[in-house]
Amino acid sequence: MSPLLISLQQLSKQFYLYDQTTNEKGVVDAVNDVDLDILSGETLGLVGESGCGKSTLGRCILRLIEPTAGKIIYEDQNLLQIPEKAFKPYRKKMQIVFQDPFASLNPRKSIRFILEEPLIIHGRSNSQDRKNRLDETIEKVGLTQEELKRYPHEFSGGQRQRIGIAR
Ligand SMILES: Nc1ncnc2c1ncn2[C@@H]1O[C@H](COP(=O)(O)OP(=O)(O)O)[C@@H](O)[C@H]1O
Ligand SMILES: [Mg+2]
Repeated sequence: MSPLLISLQQLSKQFYLYDQTTNEKGVVDAVNDVDLDILSGETLGLVGESGCGKSTLGRCILRLIEPTAGKIIYEDQNLLQIPEKAFKPYRKKMQIVFQDPFASLNPRKSIRFILEEPLIIHGRSNSQDRKNRLDETIEKVGLTQEELKRYPHEFSGGQRQRIGIAR
């Protein structure tokens, strides 16, 4: 059996709502006590009606939003116990490929910038090193050197989704 990649234990997220006009308070139980394991190399599909909490669960795993309760075990650590400041190295290892390729790429930035920016943010300071990584990555998703100069509006939906995957 493959090793465990990530394990969610009793993960929950509640949103607390407050309506300023009526003074009413409310709670949305977006994610409720989720337990699941994903093994290395495994793909997990999460299916459910609109609003059932799929996106919230994904955002919680990356700590783009903070879960209310539970544990996320990754590399023998509970990610929720790592202080925000120390979390950056983990961000490098987990990524979202956004669903909508039209909304997820900045229209004012070239493809080269879009693909290079994450490398800069994560500390690849050597430009030759970044270029090598970029070349390797665009080849994997079937983009050409010439296309790096272009902007998102010059690509089809499918091509944009490949740019999102490369990023
Ligand atoms: N930031 C938020 N504040 C308040 N409620 C939210 C927020 N994000 C999502 N919700 C609510 O949480 C529930 C789950 O939403 P979501 O995870 O987007 O569902 P799905 O991706 O399965 O369609 C919905 O009831 C939604 O309205
Ligand atoms: Mg969703």
